[in-house]
Amino acid sequence: MGEPEGAEARPGDSGAANGRTFLVTGANTGIGRSTAAALARQGGRVYVASRSREKGEEAEAGIKSSTGNEAVWFLPLDLADLDSVRACAADFLARGEPLHGLVNNAGVVRARGLTKQGFELMFGVNHLGHFVLTNALLGCLTASAPARVVTVSSDSHYSARGIDFEALRRPERGITGLHGYAVSKLCNVLFSAELARRTAGSGVTTYALHPGVVASDIWRRVPWPVRPLMLRRMLTVDQGAATSLYCATSPEVAQDSGKFYDKCAERAPSRVATPELAAELWKRSEEWTALP
Ligand SMILES: NC(=O)c1ccc[n+]([C@@H]2O[C@H](COP(=O)([O-])OP(=O)(O)OC[C@H]3O[C@@H](n4cnc5c(N)ncnc54)[C@H](OP(=O)(O)O)[C@@H]3O)[C@@H](O)[C@H]2O)c1
Repeated sequence: MGEPEGAEARPGDSGAANGRTFLVTGANTGIGRSTAAALARQGGRVYVASRSREKGEEAEAGIKSSTGNEAVWFLPLDLADLDSVRACAADFLARGEPLHGLVNNAGVVRARGLTKQGFELMFGVNHLGHFVLTNALLGCLTASAPARVVTVSSDSHYSARGIDFEALRRPERGITGLHGYAVSKLCNVLFSAELARRTAGSGVTTYALHPGVVASDIWRRVPWPVRPLMLRRMLTVDQGAATSLYCATSPEVAQDSGKFYDKCAERAPSRVATPELAAELWKRSEEWTALP
């Protein structure tokens, strides 16, 4: 038998999660589940947000039994439907808990279609859903400060040359589906940087990161026999959770905000990730989601 889940997700594993509350999106599988399990193993109170009740409840039970921590709860969250995102935030807030760490981890790649409110699916799930979730929880994060917002981006964001805002209202047209993914991951970096500017001095700090190339379900659309060959060379999900944990808990980055990380170290983001583009994305996201 191998290590119990989350046990190998070490760098950043400082025990700083003990007694603190975290919400991890897409925590039923992959990097998110490993992150949630490692936080629970450190004694954190962990909310497992998932779009599937069946998978979410299975993850809640699995993390409880593998970590011995009973303070793990499933929360329904479909990031492709902003009504579900708002309901998830309301559900969390109704519990009256503080929130010390929001890990915006869920993501889709090579996905085609539109969200319920008519946004390109990868932009809608990877960025816009997390934008609404974070803003709905920001008051609680601020009241719980010091608190952190960790957004799992990707090094794919370096390949995006900018944002065609009109294209975000129609399904991805590229052959591979990777263009829309890169743009959505650039949006993650821009969102985190702009959030840092807006929360400066509040005790809320923000982090965007590349988890590495990780053998998770995200490669489910790659056909056999290419997939098993690819997966063999990748990081495990526990290794992939290390930078998320570092950003969520390490005292080393407690004073930092708005930066991009890779391999538990700061890395310069794409040159396209300017404050002007970040402000423009924030403004459009606010208008599109009718945020005050
Ligand atoms: N794996 C890599 O090599 C890699 C590299 C760079 C960046 N990343 C990023 O790392 C993050 C985690 O990915 P992963 O590799 O762990 O992938 P994964 O195993 O496919 O997990 C993705 C998670 O997101 C959830 N999700 C998808 N659509 C959702 C929606 N509409 N609402 C709520 N949750 C939704 C999935 O739920 P279901 O189980 O129901 O599908 C799953 O829990 C993503 O943001 C990804 O872009 C991964």
